[in-house]
Amino acid sequence: MRLLALLAVLLCFFAPPALAADAMITPGVQWKDTSGNPIQAHGGGMIKVGSTYYWFGEDKTGTSQGNAWFRNVPCYSSSDLQHWKFEANVLTRQASGDLGPKRVIERPKVIYNASTKQYVMWMHVDDGGHTITKVGVATSSSVCGQYKYLGSFKPQGNISLDIQLFVDDDGSAYFFGEARAAGGLRLYKLTSDYLKIDKLVSVLEDYESPAIFKHDGRYYVLGSHRTGWRTNDNMYTSSTSLSGGWAPWKLFAPKGSKTYNSQTTFVLPVTGTAGTTFMFMGDRWQPSSLGTSPYVWLPLTVSGTSVSMKWYDRWYIDTVTGKWHA
Ligand code: GAL
Repeated sequence: MRLLALLAVLLCFFAPPALAADAMITPGVQWKDTSGNPIQAHGGGMIKVGSTYYWFGEDKTGTSQGNAWFRNVPCYSSSDLQHWKFEANVLTRQASGDLGPKRVIERPKVIYNASTKQYVMWMHVDDGGHTITKVGVATSSSVCGQYKYLGSFKPQGNISLDIQLFVDDDGSAYFFGEARAAGGLRLYKLTSDYLKIDKLVSVLEDYESPAIFKHDGRYYVLGSHRTGWRTNDNMYTSSTSLSGGWAPWKLFAPKGSKTYNSQTTFVLPVTGTAGTTFMFMGDRWQPSSLGTSPYVWLPLTVSGTSVSMKWYDRWYIDTVTGKWHA
């Protein structure tokens, strides 16, 4: 008996320190920030700075199909991916121009340029009738600071709708611009300051809402069909090179589930001490009330070169270990 008690004491003494608690993710329901306000980060993306995740997206408060005008690009912060603190509106409506009234700013994405020490945001710039179809760029010296809007352009003269950014392991950055049926999903390399297009790298089939991640030397691209705010069965392709060799597109969620009724916006690698979870981020758009559109976040499974995704009413992620469980 005494021996057992001694063993128990010893075990407690040598047990590893408790790690951060699991964070619970509940896809498909409305989420509130730490102040109790609905989170407005639709069509969003994330960047990790130190051990903090920053989530950017579209503030769609009070907007609906036909009047989904630009209001703000908010920035939220979290260390566990469950509790989100509103930090600031880092880009806000201006009196005129691209950020003016009755304009559309969508899918803002932020990457960090280590040599210029600037956070660089790219976004889809448009109007209600898609007559502008440009990409806009803004920069800030702090992650949730006020971004300075630098202007918009058509990448190499091509129209650009849904967008994505990606930084490869060597620090080179890439931009996806969806150019509709005539132009495909175009992947461009950025200049070393991440502010301009350097060159066209690849033209993929015309999927929209592109998201990209890299695992074991292979690039995976997820995207949706073009059905506006209505969701569809999103697909993925992969290649060991960004410049070609893309595999035929396949489903990653069950056929007919319409990607569990969501549209891809980003894939976040959650890397910790024990590995990486690739987290799918999607939007369950509510066209009559876009600001109440729930977020659908689910863990992706990468097995060999196949990607799949299952539904969980709730699941748990540990940002310290990078592991998830149901
Ligand atoms: C989708 C696009 C969204 C939004 C919507 C408007 O195709 O992915 O970001 O632009 O169309 O209808």
